[in-house]
Amino acid sequence: MMSTRMTAGCAAALACLLAGPVSAQEADAQAIVDALFAAGGNKPGVRASGAKGVCAKGTFTPSAEAPSLTKAPHFAKAVPMTMRFSMGGSNPGISDKAKPVTRGFAMRFTDTTGDMVFVFISAPVFSTKTPQQLLEFARVRAPGPDGKPDADKIKAFGTANPETTKQAAWLNARPVPASFAGVDYWGVQAYTLTDAKGAAKIVKLKTVATAGQLGLIDDELKAKPDSFYADELKERLAKGPATFDLVAVLGEAGDPTNDSTATWPEENRKSVKLGTIAVSAIEPNATCDANTFDPVADLPEGVAGPADDPMFAIRSPTYAISLSRRAAP
Ligand code: HEM
Repeated sequence: MMSTRMTAGCAAALACLLAGPVSAQEADAQAIVDALFAAGGNKPGVRASGAKGVCAKGTFTPSAEAPSLTKAPHFAKAVPMTMRFSMGGSNPGISDKAKPVTRGFAMRFTDTTGDMVFVFISAPVFSTKTPQQLLEFARVRAPGPDGKPDADKIKAFGTANPETTKQAAWLNARPVPASFAGVDYWGVQAYTLTDAKGAAKIVKLKTVATAGQLGLIDDELKAKPDSFYADELKERLAKGPATFDLVAVLGEAGDPTNDSTATWPEENRKSVKLGTIAVSAIEPNATCDANTFDPVADLPEGVAGPADDPMFAIRSPTYAISLSRRAAP
């Protein structure tokens, strides 16, 4: 497993990525990162996804039930958090008003034994099922000489790969969130929580906004400037913390764990509140930008990602490559 320290070390010494032959997975990861950057116009110094965002800090307070599901020390007592809310994609100039674009919620829970990182989005599904499909999904979205992607190519790709249209359909069916703190976020991928006795449960994780789903109606959306989330969050936090429940939706036999484009019937599943996330204040961007939120490398014992989902493990090398690229002089 790649540690956060090694990831950060690679940012300082880009040479560690360029030093020798890369594995097949790293080669795929490099191609994917290139394609993600190209789709957003190859802007320098930004993330390959979540390029526009705001950094914040807060606290996680676990529920009384949480330790019965996982032995991770982050669920045994209140821990400090660093967080980042973002707009999907690699274009830092994207409008906050964009509809079929996920809002992101990256979370680092800090403990003396190590960090726990979750990186969620405002939809229960990811756009693609396999790394190869993500590569092609991003490539067909690259702008042409006129600065725009080819709408026909995108449409043809969606027709040939119907599961890749589910995320946009889900987002298009809902209003644009009025606040980063007024929408739910999903971990999308299936996690295994293991308790102190070794009993394991497959879950999907989500954050439920205490403020509820704050959607903008069309007239309100029209009246907004292209960037309003950062100011809205600052104003909201000046009045008090913004809170979310962190919830584990318990899987049942047959629920898929290897397909990031597939949902579970959440309404028919039991769920357990794992604790409360309180977002207390905005942090300088530098606090979040110095590292990446790696959801694969930074997991404690008691929390594991899906071994059978090809979209999980590859997140680690892609996040590291993106970090190296944006941190390079
Ligand atoms: C369910 C799956 C996924 C979710 C929920 C997700 C969500 C996110 C979010 C919210 C961010 C912004 C993080 C931040 O604010 O620092 C992000 C960044 C990123 N994601 Fe994902 N992602 C997923 C899968 C993937 C996959 C499969 C890849 C590539 C194979 C990928 C590549 C990236 C990259 C390269 C970054 C930029 C990292 C950085 O520069 O720090 N993601 N992702």
